[in-house]
Amino acid sequence: MTVLVRTNSPEETTDVGARVGRHLTAGDLLCLTGDLGSGKTVFARGVCRALGCRERVKSPSFVLVREYHGDVPVFHIDLYRLGSPDEWSTLGIDDRLEEAVALIEWGELMGSRLPDETIRVEIISCEGRDGRDISITWSDPRMTAIRSSLDIRTPHGKNGR
Ligand SMILES: Nc1ncnc2c1ncn2[C@@H]1O[C@H](COP(=O)(O)OP(=O)(O)OP(=O)(O)O)[C@@H](O)[C@H]1O
Ligand SMILES: [Mg+2]
Repeated sequence: MTVLVRTNSPEETTDVGARVGRHLTAGDLLCLTGDLGSGKTVFARGVCRALGCRERVKSPSFVLVREYHGDVPVFHIDLYRLGSPDEWSTLGIDDRLEEAVALIEWGELMGSRLPDETIRVEIISCEGRDGRDISITWSDPRMTAIRSSLDIRTPHGKNGR
């Protein structure tokens, strides 16, 4: 199921992230796709907030992976500077993914190595400087609940296609 939602500010994108984040549990993997500066980190901030992380969420571009401590551990990963998908194991998180939620910016660079159950979020700039179209695709039944919480938020009928 794919849900589309439009946001018009960073705060709204963080809020969408939070509405998704509160449905996530240990073992979930979320792939964030979108151009440089599209809002992947801004979205991740909302997910982290919903999962009870109190740390400041900063871009993991240079460190590749940051860990936050919420109701579950949260790995915030940025693959933009990863040399190749083969280097994934150098992140050193494989044996902890089951107990954590992983948010992966540029996750699509892993190609078919991402599990089928991955939640896919794509952010596309639109309508001037601050508009973003966000699509969220997930095969999990929990997606129905996410969709309802996003529907309540947007009275303009931009989402839910
Ligand atoms: N609707 C919006 N949603 C998200 N961010 C927005 C929006 N409108 C403007 N912005 C701005 O766009 C920028 C998004 O930055 P962010 O670091 O989240 O991008 P990113 O996709 O993580 O980029 P990178 O690929 O470099 O990591 C911020 O400066 C934010 O203030
Ligand atoms: Mg980022």
